[in-house]
Parts: sequence; C-alpha cells; structure tokens
Amino acid sequence: MAESGGTLRVDGAVVPAGPPGATLLDALRATGNTAPKGACRRGECGACTVLVGDRAVMSCTMLAALVTDEVTTAAGLGEAGADLCAAFADHAAFQCGFCTPGQVVRAEAVLRERVDRSRDEIVREMSGNVCRCTGYRQIVDAVCAVASSRRELR
Ligand code: FES
Ligand code: FES
Repeated sequence: MAESGGTLRVDGAVVPAGPPGATLLDALRATGNTAPKGACRRGECGACTVLVGDRAVMSCTMLAALVTDEVTTAAGLGEAGADLCAAFADHAAFQCGFCTPGQVVRAEAVLRERVDRSRDEIVREMSGNVCRCTGYRQIVDAVCAVASSRRELR
C-alpha cells in the first residue's frame, strides 16, 4: 500500500497519492508533474510511462494506493537519463515531444535491466511506446547509441 497518510515518493519528494481510486497517472498530474502524459488512458500508448523502482509501468493502469516503491518520472531522472535526453536530441528522435518523456523512461528501464541488447531487442522492448511523429527509427537509433556508450563505460 502507499505510505501512511496516502503519499507517494516521487522524484525524491513525498507527494499526495490522491483520492481513493486515483490512478498513479492522475496522482502525478495532480501534483503538477507534467512529464507523464495522459493519452489513451488504457495502457495502449506508453505516454504515461514512469519508473516504479526500476520497472517501467504505464501509470494510467496502476492505482496510486498500491504503489510502494519510489516513482521516477522523466522529470526526475536527472543525471541518470541525461545521456538518453542528449541522444534523443542528437538523433532527432522527437518532433512534437508528446511521447518523449515516456520513451526516455522506457529506454532507461530497458537499459538498466540489461545494457547488452541487440537492435532487434531494443525495437521489441520499446514497441509498447507509440510515437505518431518520428517513425521510430530515430528513437531506436538514440537508444542503441546510449546502449553502446554505456557498455563502453562499464
Ligand atoms: S496514457 Fe497510459 S498507456 Fe496511454
Ligand atoms: S514525437 Fe510526437 S508523438 Fe512522438
């Protein structure tokens, strides 16, 4: 269950978990955190993706009251996601940017789990995050570039 008093730990701060029945997405947005986006609101697009612990979840599908681990949004990745943000910019991996916070969070989870990934694996792991603008190739290029650079740093 959420912490006593109905709170969540988000991006290093304690915030309200919202009313009973609130989704994690709605609880986050109610705090003014606009990184996770509400688009489909039924687990189909990935725009609302955040980290719960090290796991990427679609926050529109999760009740805030059930979240016990630290939540990290794209706004809270900080240095951990700086290379991904730079790579998305370098590879022109966004246009309108609506999907980008969710894409970056998903990529961070994928590479935290295992950085030794083929391009095909990265395509598969990123496939739940929809982008209506880029055609995906640039997004995969950016994630592959970061995977490569993180492997070299090990
Ligand atoms: S808004 Fe959550 S998956 Fe689309
Ligand atoms: S950059 Fe517009 S939806 Fe992905």
